Amino acid sequence: MKNSPDRAVLITGASTGIGEACALELDRLGWRVFAGVRNDPAGQRLGRRASARLTPVMLDVTEAEQVAAVAAMLAETLGDRGLFGLVNNAGVAVAGPLEALSLDQLRRQFEVNVVGQVAVTQAVLPLIRRAAGRIVMIGSLNGRLATPYLGPYAASKFALEAITDAWRIELRRWKIGVSIVEPGTVLTPIWDKAVTNTQELTETIPPEMMELYGDDIRAMQELTAKLVARGMSVSRVVRAVLHALTAGRPKTRYPVGIETRLLIAGAPFAPDRFRDRIIRRFIGLD
Ligand SMILES: NC(=O)c1ccc[n+]([C@@H]2O[C@H](COP(=O)([O-])OP(=O)(O)OC[C@H]3O[C@@H](n4cnc5c(N)ncnc54)[C@H](OP(=O)(O)O)[C@@H]3O)[C@@H](O)[C@H]2O)c1
Repeated sequence: MKNSPDRAVLITGASTGIGEACALELDRLGWRVFAGVRNDPAGQRLGRRASARLTPVMLDVTEAEQVAAVAAMLAETLGDRGLFGLVNNAGVAVAGPLEALSLDQLRRQFEVNVVGQVAVTQAVLPLIRRAAGRIVMIGSLNGRLATPYLGPYAASKFALEAITDAWRIELRRWKIGVSIVEPGTVLTPIWDKAVTNTQELTETIPPEMMELYGDDIRAMQELTAKLVARGMSVSRVVRAVLHALTAGRPKTRYPVGIETRLLIAGAPFAPDRFRDRIIRRFIGLD
């Protein structure tokens, strides 16, 4: 394990949830953490809970100017030592029936979860190359197994899997490790946001769509509440991220949680229609 202090890591989306937990744990272990946030209060909140080493940086991954400014600041600050770690964690979840989805929402989903990750990675890759460092993507079980009413989110996480695979092979020559962490349901604010989004959706989608999908949306809301109630703690995801950053031979994929591992291992062997039936039953759609 290469857990030497003074290594630098950039974590996107560090205001809450998995990103925040990774930032605080890496800071505790002596890393020099640059934590991406989108407003000053979030940076101050994080700063109060961390050592003076931790630096909040203003980073909306969809804002090209902010991405360029953070890369320039890191180059200036870190110099020849470069950046050892990048944790591409920022993400949002767009939920709802695909038929009722506005294309702008779909674009936003990809803009944050896919294009944003590539933009940040491209910007800091010269610094990661200097350190022969590591890139860690935060994927999802939904990047291996698509579920209904989370179509846009699953599509973005499937895309992230493909990008991770391609990049891992392309960056091998410089000994840059590229891994993807694939958690199941984790207890974080993303679920409160999803509940608010679904509430907004039910208030804003056309009545004819509500007539078609209302029952399914309600079933999904109930299931989500149950899944979140038994969601895993962020510390399990943090452990996987730490391994990806520090192990002598990091894994390419880190499914997190026993159910996640079983589903990912079993899904390819189940015929599609059988799998569809199980998913519909599990959600309570049949
Ligand atoms: N929780 C789960 O069950 C679960 C499971 C699998 C994978 N994941 C993945 O884990 C990652 C972190 O999610 P989380 O569960 O920790 O949720 P979270 O607490 O909502 O964290 C999401 C983070 O992303 C940030 N973010 C959103 N849009 C951004 C943008 N345009 N630019 C930069 N940052 C942005 C948020 O910042 P603001 O606070 O400023 O909005 C927040 O810091 C996501 O990629 C998510 O898909 C979560």
